[in-house]
Amino acid sequence: MRIEYLTDVEGITWEQLQGFCVGWRQPLTPAQLHQILVNSSYVVLAFDKESQKVVGFINALSDEVSFAFIPMLEVLPPCQKRGIGSELVRRMLAQLEHITCIDLMCDPDMQPFYERFGMLRSHGMVIRKYL
Ligand SMILES: CC(C)(COP(=O)(O)OP(=O)(O)OC[C@H]1O[C@@H](n2cnc3c(N)ncnc32)[C@H](O)[C@@H]1OP(=O)(O)O)[C@@H](O)C(=O)NCCC(=O)NCCS
Repeated sequence: MRIEYLTDVEGITWEQLQGFCVGWRQPLTPAQLHQILVNSSYVVLAFDKESQKVVGFINALSDEVSFAFIPMLEVLPPCQKRGIGSELVRRMLAQLEHITCIDLMCDPDMQPFYERFGMLRSHGMVIRKYL
């Protein structure tokens, strides 16, 4: 792998976004993922120059005054545990440096991972229409 980190989805096609959403009840299709990235306020993509595929990504939605929300962070299973996820978080937080409140939802077992980047535990409420 030769990873390059991109902050733009321009030039990336849905065909380069295969293999994500493993184990989801309703996995997003690569085309849906592509649309999500296009519509996001900020993205960081881990792009493997060798395979010409996206192997990880993080996105954020923002009001550009106070709030940003990070809905997704994903690294392809074969590429996990090599620091790519951490690098995506670091680069996204750097992009969001001007934003006061940065929120994300995660399972309790992921909280120690996000604490590494200075994030604080909190509480939240959600609607999930597939439940
Ligand atoms: C979370 C994720 C993006 C991490 O990517 P990565 O490239 O493996 O991250 P890094 O190599 O930088 O760090 C790995 C760390 O992730 C954390 N982690 C990953 N999955 C975890 C899980 N299910 N529970 C707890 N911690 C987890 C661990 O702290 C791990 O550290 P370790 O190597 O010391 O065990 C990746 O595991 C993934 O895509 N998981 C599926 C999607 C997901 O859960 N996304 C987060 C939604 S909140």
